Amino acid sequence: MIQISIILENLKEAIIGESTAKAKYNLFAIRADEEGLVEIARLFMAISYAEEIHVKNHVKAYEKISDNTIEIEELVKIDEVELQKKVRDTRSNLIQAIAGETYEFRKMYKSFMKNAKKLNTYLAEFSFNLARNAENIHRKLYIDYLKMLDDNRMRENENIYVCEICGNVEIGKLPSSCSICDHDQKFFKKMEN
Ligand SMILES: [Fe+2]
Ligand SMILES: [Fe+2]
Repeated sequence: MIQISIILENLKEAIIGESTAKAKYNLFAIRADEEGLVEIARLFMAISYAEEIHVKNHVKAYEKISDNTIEIEELVKIDEVELQKKVRDTRSNLIQAIAGETYEFRKMYKSFMKNAKKLNTYLAEFSFNLARNAENIHRKLYIDYLKMLDDNRMRENENIYVCEICGNVEIGKLPSSCSICDHDQKFFKKMEN
């Protein structure tokens, strides 16, 4: 039988995963900048910011369900040296990012949501679901940008918006509402151009 402790463990694993992705995409952005791939650097920064929103949502869910506070610094120990070793050229970094987002979308959040549903932990299920849908968007964007890089037709100075409720990322035009969480456009943050 599934117990509440499983849901809390799932939330912790998601918090660690999202925090690591956030830090890794930051490094990928620095690398892309160094290679003169400014638009890809901006995409990495935007998605890094989106992963931070997932961390916040999962922390809120954890604290409500457990009635305990969570110390992120205690839980998440990022080994900067190890993380730095994962940074390669930007094309490889995009492929690595696609693999990570695909795993979270197809496997990790799917199984976490199943557990949360069984136990009726609506807050966890909701947080996992928002993140899962956003990871699918991130995945598609990374695939698009990889294709553009390969076809040598990079966009220039596109506006990038991040939904501060769910971590959805929109390129180009600000939508009237978020396609994932349905919040109004005022909840989108415009990333620096
Ligand atoms: Fe993501
Ligand atoms: Fe949203």
